[in-house]
Amino acid sequence: MKRLKHFMLMALLCLGPLAAPAADEPALTANNCAPTGDLRGDAQAGQDIHLEYCAECHGYDGKAEVIVMHMDEPPRDQTDAGYMQTLNDQFLYLAICSGGQAVGRSLVMPGWGDMLTHAEIRDLIAWIRSFSGT
Ligand code: HEC
Repeated sequence: MKRLKHFMLMALLCLGPLAAPAADEPALTANNCAPTGDLRGDAQAGQDIHLEYCAECHGYDGKAEVIVMHMDEPPRDQTDAGYMQTLNDQFLYLAICSGGQAVGRSLVMPGWGDMLTHAEIRDLIAWIRSFSGT
C-alpha cells in the first residue's frame, strides 16, 4: 500500500508539468490574434492583469480620467454603456491583442499578443465589460 501511494505521488509529480501550458506555445500574434470561441473569461482574474498593464492609461475603473501621459487620442470612457455596446468582443480582443492601429485606433494603444495569453485576454475582456455592464 505504501508503495502504491508513493507511485501515485510520483505519477502526479510527473503529470504536473504536462498540465501547465506549454512554454513554447506560439505567440498569439503568430496566429494574427484571431479571436475564436467564447471571448469572456474570468473578470476577477482580469482585474489583476488590468491593474498591472492597463490601468496607467485606462484608469483602474476604465474611465481614463487621470491620464499619466499626453495622448492625441486619449482612451475612451469604458464605463459608457452606450459606447461599449457599439464594440463587440472580437473588436476588443483584436484591439488588445494586436493594438490600436489594427482596429483603426490610436497607435498609442499597444498590442499585447506577444505578452499575454489567449486566456488572459479573455479575462481582461470580462473585466472591461464589467465597467459598463455590457
Ligand atoms: C500607453 C497607454 C495604454 C495602455 C498601457 C493600454 N491602452 Fe488600451 N488604449 C489606449 C488608447 C490611446 C486607446 C485608443 C483611443 C482611440 O483611438 O480611441 C486604447 C484603446 C483600447 C481598447 C479599444 C476599445 C476602446 O476603449 O475604445 C481596448 C479594448 C483597450 N484599449 C484595452 C486595453 C487593455 C486590456 C490594456 C492592458 C493590457 C490596455 N488597453 C493598455 C491606451 C493604452
